[in-house]
Amino acid sequence: MKILKKESDDILVIASPRERVHIGDYLVASESQRSLVLQVYDERYLDVEGIEEEIAREEVLSASAPGFTSDPTELATISTLIRDTRILLCKARGTISGGRLTPRANWMPSRTNSTVTRLLVEDLAVSVAPLGVRNIRVGTVDNESSFGIPAEALDGRITVITGRKESGKSHLAKILLRGLLENDAYSVIFDLNDEYGTIGRRVDGTETGEAKKVKVLRPGRDMKFSLAAVGLRPITNLLSHSLEMPGTSLREFVKIWEQLDNRDELTLATLESGIQQWRCNEFVRDALFARYHTLASCGLFTDSTHQQFDLQDFFTLNRSGGALVVSLSGVSPLNRRMVVELILSKLVELLERRKIPPVFLFAEEAHLYLRDTYWEDLITRMRHFGVFTVFVTNQPDAIDQKIYRQVDNIFLYNFSNDSDLALISQASMADSDTVKAIVRTLPPRMCLLLGYAVRNLPVVVNVDPFDSPATGLTRRFFEDSIELSASAGRPAHPS
Ligand SMILES: Nc1ncnc2c1ncn2[C@@H]1O[C@H](COP(=O)(O)OP(=O)(O)OP(=O)(O)O)[C@@H](O)[C@H]1O
Ligand SMILES: [Mg+2]
Repeated sequence: MKILKKESDDILVIASPRERVHIGDYLVASESQRSLVLQVYDERYLDVEGIEEEIAREEVLSASAPGFTSDPTELATISTLIRDTRILLCKARGTISGGRLTPRANWMPSRTNSTVTRLLVEDLAVSVAPLGVRNIRVGTVDNESSFGIPAEALDGRITVITGRKESGKSHLAKILLRGLLENDAYSVIFDLNDEYGTIGRRVDGTETGEAKKVKVLRPGRDMKFSLAAVGLRPITNLLSHSLEMPGTSLREFVKIWEQLDNRDELTLATLESGIQQWRCNEFVRDALFARYHTLASCGLFTDSTHQQFDLQDFFTLNRSGGALVVSLSGVSPLNRRMVVELILSKLVELLERRKIPPVFLFAEEAHLYLRDTYWEDLITRMRHFGVFTVFVTNQPDAIDQKIYRQVDNIFLYNFSNDSDLALISQASMADSDTVKAIVRTLPPRMCLLLGYAVRNLPVVVNVDPFDSPATGLTRRFFEDSIELSASAGRPAHPS
């Protein structure tokens, strides 16, 4: 391979057909003292003068007179090689000198003296200082070498996993989650499709070492809250944001609450009689009652002490980390929002008081239950306190551009839709040419990893299979005919 030319910030490398280089691979243009690290983001044929005419002529000839033509000087071979010669479009990613990589890429290697060779990701990794020691294996790179990210790269960071439907996003989220569990971290998962409960089990049904750390709870069934344990702040948040309670009524509510709390009598029953007896305007009383009845009938609250869920207990009972899977499937949209609100505000409160260690939050399709104002809160204030979110979505436009700018790691699966591509290429931390060209060509189960975890050196990863029972599959009407045909080894409808 040789450097051909530089066009704006692209470096064009000419490669013979025998060279096994793919989009996403790294190359290195070496001179005596230093070398420029390049990444291939696209490729095209070498366009030599008259080559199209030659190909057309040959095609016409072979169609009209099929058979052998003698070619004693093997000119055809050379001509074929030229026709298949590729131009690799590369971006410079940095300079290696003295064995260390720096992001400087403002020089041009000599076209005559430099040699261009493949640079494997594992060799590239040697030239940067590691981010941590707790490796989470994600898949393979460069065909066969193992690739993982340090758990530390998710710690204190915001991560986004996005790609089109059924590209493998939840699959990857589960790999990361199991990796975090193996490193004794705590996670809370907002699970929309009942996918994460099996994370502690293998395909054959046996349990992994982490199975005991996974707890699945269904809001309204085995996850009910007591008013006293939730506390005033989360409840007022919920009343004003999820139940849109006006300010005047909220002030009266706080007074009633404080009175009951001072007497240590805070229950659903006493709250009802408290509102009944409170001296206030009838409109305010109506507003209070309306919200009270929503709280009382939503099934999320209880006065019975043995049914109550205490978030802090989850942490104290699982000393070596755990995954709290909040199953939101089958929960009404209003209850979803209330539960998420309650859990997030309780988490922040416990973190503020340093009662619990930092937590990783996995949020699938968060726009379905996360109130608008919470997004910024999650990535700024909550992250500061110790809630590190992994957003998983197949709708990149559901996440605001402001949020993307704060994101540290992005795992990108295939998108072919132009508007999604434009959005995601603008939002991500790599240049938009790279993102657009690579993401468009990504086959299923491969993703482009950008950002902090890979030190801003984009890497295309072939994600591993995950040893866990299949969950979250879309129900199908014709399921049994697929099963029958699979077991009989023949098509369901022979024709
Ligand atoms: N790297 C992989 N190796 C093997 N199977 C995979 C891999 N990635 C995904 N799959 C399988 O592909 C299917 C779809 O994956 P997954 O449910 O993770 O997609 P998704 O992007 O979350 O889809 P949705 O948009 O519907 O949520 C699953 O059955 C999953 O097991
Ligand atoms: Mg999914």
